[in-house]
Amino acid sequence: MNDQLRIDELRSKLRTYDYHYHVLDDPILDDEQYDRLFRELVDLETLHPEWASPDSPTQRVGGVLAEGFDKVSHVIPMLSLGNVFSVGEIAEFDERVRAVAGDDVAYVCEMKIDGLAISLHYEQGFLVQGATRGNGTVGENITINLRTIRAIPLSLQEPQSLEVRGEAYLPHKSFRALNALRQEEGLALFANPRNAAAGSLRQLDPRVVAKRGLSFFAYALPDAKGIVQSQHEALLYMQKLGFPVNPYFALCHTVSDIVSYVEKAEKLRETLPYDIDGVVIKVNAFSVQEQLGYTAKSPRFSVAYKFTAQKVHSRLQRIEWSVGRTGVVTPTAVIEPVLLAGTTVSRASLHNEDVIKEKDVRLGDIVVVQKAGDIIPEIVGPVISERTGAEVPIDYPTLCPACYTPLVRLTDEAAWRCLNESCPAQQVEKLIHFASRQAMNIDGMGEAVVEALYHAGLVHDVTDFYTLDKNVLLRLERMGEKSASKLIDAIVKSKEQPLERVLIGLGIRHVGEKVAKMLAATFSSMDVLMQASQSELQAISDVGPKMAQSIVQYFAHEANRERVMRLQALGLTMKSTALEQNLYDGPFTAKTVVVTGTFTAMTRQDVVSQIEQQGGKVSSSVSKKTDYVIYGQDAGSKLTKAQQLLRDLPDLSLHILTESEFLTMLKEK
Ligand code: IVH
Repeated sequence: MNDQLRIDELRSKLRTYDYHYHVLDDPILDDEQYDRLFRELVDLETLHPEWASPDSPTQRVGGVLAEGFDKVSHVIPMLSLGNVFSVGEIAEFDERVRAVAGDDVAYVCEMKIDGLAISLHYEQGFLVQGATRGNGTVGENITINLRTIRAIPLSLQEPQSLEVRGEAYLPHKSFRALNALRQEEGLALFANPRNAAAGSLRQLDPRVVAKRGLSFFAYALPDAKGIVQSQHEALLYMQKLGFPVNPYFALCHTVSDIVSYVEKAEKLRETLPYDIDGVVIKVNAFSVQEQLGYTAKSPRFSVAYKFTAQKVHSRLQRIEWSVGRTGVVTPTAVIEPVLLAGTTVSRASLHNEDVIKEKDVRLGDIVVVQKAGDIIPEIVGPVISERTGAEVPIDYPTLCPACYTPLVRLTDEAAWRCLNESCPAQQVEKLIHFASRQAMNIDGMGEAVVEALYHAGLVHDVTDFYTLDKNVLLRLERMGEKSASKLIDAIVKSKEQPLERVLIGLGIRHVGEKVAKMLAATFSSMDVLMQASQSELQAISDVGPKMAQSIVQYFAHEANRERVMRLQALGLTMKSTALEQNLYDGPFTAKTVVVTGTFTAMTRQDVVSQIEQQGGKVSSSVSKKTDYVIYGQDAGSKLTKAQQLLRDLPDLSLHILTESEFLTMLKEK
């Protein structure tokens, strides 16, 4: 098959797979196979820039950074909806509609997706513009970002010119992954998927947007009269064109139909993999919609039934201040127990001093407590009308509640910290963290046991875990023979935990699971890692300057180096995954390799580490001694030199590999 045909075939295959995965929610290919085809297409398109096409699946990843977003006018304004909150208000809406349209009305009910309204323009079947709602009349042109959303078709099944509106949103899974990553990197967390979606679409770097896992549901064809005559037909038509349409729409004829749809939606809400915040009720026939018309702000033919937030009132009894592993002092509100969304709640989050001040919460206040998604309950604020005058402002502690060291507030942080390294509260938290499931996974060494060991003076530092014996453990209250033996076994077993888990356990700031894994895969041992310079660390993909600095600072501390050495002396193996891989020969073992150009599936540093992990040598210039040249996009003189060498000396053992050939060889290892 010639390259042009193969390019067409790959594009069409990848489009079909994208459609099944992101629109039909029914994947028909595994990620690895998808990636292989994707890389093949990238390589062929690199070889043949003359066949580039804006709707190729490769054009979603986003290359060029935006300097800002241009404004775009919405020819048909993007209005918002009036809200209703009760069955009574739904009935009033229905009455208003019937007063104008007569008795024969039908409605379409849809899920109200909690994201951002987006407008998409297609010309002759191609996506040419995507914009935010903005103020309804003027929005921002965020086409480059919207192109990265795989649920949004870049081209349509038919060469139509039309505008489609819908909601861009962040599925729960993407939201959790994003926040987990941000936590590891010490960045502020997004409060909910909607904010995260909004923040993502405002990014100037579309490559960042591409990684966020946004999605889209189409819900309106604002200028559809020539094509379809009702909202129901519009939804089906958009589905046919290849748009993702939320599947739970339904035709309703009476208020009681609508109410049972709303009830079903409230139940479904708990299980859906994305946030909905209500139900949108729309008159079905466009002719009736026209008859009803608009108010200044919103259509008269549609309303949003908003789910009421899950909120209750309770009395704030006191604040508990706790000191975390890194010394951050956080307030937790202790409230009179209340039932909220099916569970009894007696504690709620108050975040930090700024939040307390901003909300002006006082001891004794009746407060509003809310549960948002799967996030822990939080205090929304005081009910001012319930104040009696006996409420007492909350004093923020100036001394650490555990060790009485004066607290400090670092610049750029909302948190007060205790900087005393030997603060008992921090020490206990550090010990708990070290033994925890995500770190050394010492079975049976939970919070209570760690606290008991610490207060009995048996364990102060993580190294002390490894000097415990059964008789010592038996001194603890409620510790029997059997559990003591089991615990000792678990401690001994944990000595075999790999380097990455030890790194997590040490609790180096900004080093979470992902970074620890990367460090363990790059450095052959703890000793090598301890010597690494800031720039060596930063050369690892995803390790930023803040992380690199924090790692260097940690190991610059004498006490920390000693701790690591003691752990080694106590028998912790701290095996690096890099070392493990080194034991296996691969195609690049003992070979000299030159890496050039920009790679799509991995960073250049990843390519280099893969070769080094097999014991290959990466060199910066091409010579007769070079065994492999691996090239990515925009490879220049090194590739040309290798090609020239091969032409002149065809017997050389030099091989030139594309990125995808390289990846295939890695897999064959
Ligand atoms: S129809 C006149 N349908 O809710 C606005 N909106 O204020 C017509 N939304 O801005 C919108 N799901 O962002 C419609 N199935 C749905 C929706 C939906 C979510 C959002 C949209 C709009 C807001 C209503």
